[in-house]
Amino acid sequence: MLRQAADAAATRAYAPYSGLRVGAAGLGDDGRVVTGCNVENASFGLTLCAECGLVSALVASGGGRLVAVSVIAGDGRPLAPCGRCRQLLMEHGGPGLLVDGGTASPPQSLGELLPGAFGRDELELRRGPGGTGPAGRPSTAGTGAAGHPGTAGTSR
Ligand code: THU
Repeated sequence: MLRQAADAAATRAYAPYSGLRVGAAGLGDDGRVVTGCNVENASFGLTLCAECGLVSALVASGGGRLVAVSVIAGDGRPLAPCGRCRQLLMEHGGPGLLVDGGTASPPQSLGELLPGAFGRDELELRRGPGGTGPAGRPSTAGTGAAGHPGTAGTSR
């Protein structure tokens, strides 16, 4: 069902530069199905992946958590989500999100596809009192070191 929705979304892709049409479909925890397709741009770096569209559609239609996604290329076969999109999906589905592997392979969890992911918990851990500054780390001010190895002594 998700695969069919992703397949249909791929037919609507705007991919005049790469020729690679991609469709993505996600199942929300309320049963809603949201889709997206890739939208390329003459300024190549601005291209939006299909998963970006999916996440936008999820949020714009009421939010919630993703429980499963299928990302399908124009040839009808699953496409591995790129690194940036794994991160985008992580924010809205977490490590338990199931990613379709097609007919030949079982679904994989997003936690398997993006181990050790950076997430909001990292931000919360490092947020100091009042939301400013580093927490739990002694100040490096006045020591001459900027806090990062390799930056001491460089002038920019
Ligand atoms: N693409 C996606 O839509 N999702 C991915 O996860 C990987 C790549 C698109 C972007 C671009 O339009 C085309 O595939 C070729 O990179």
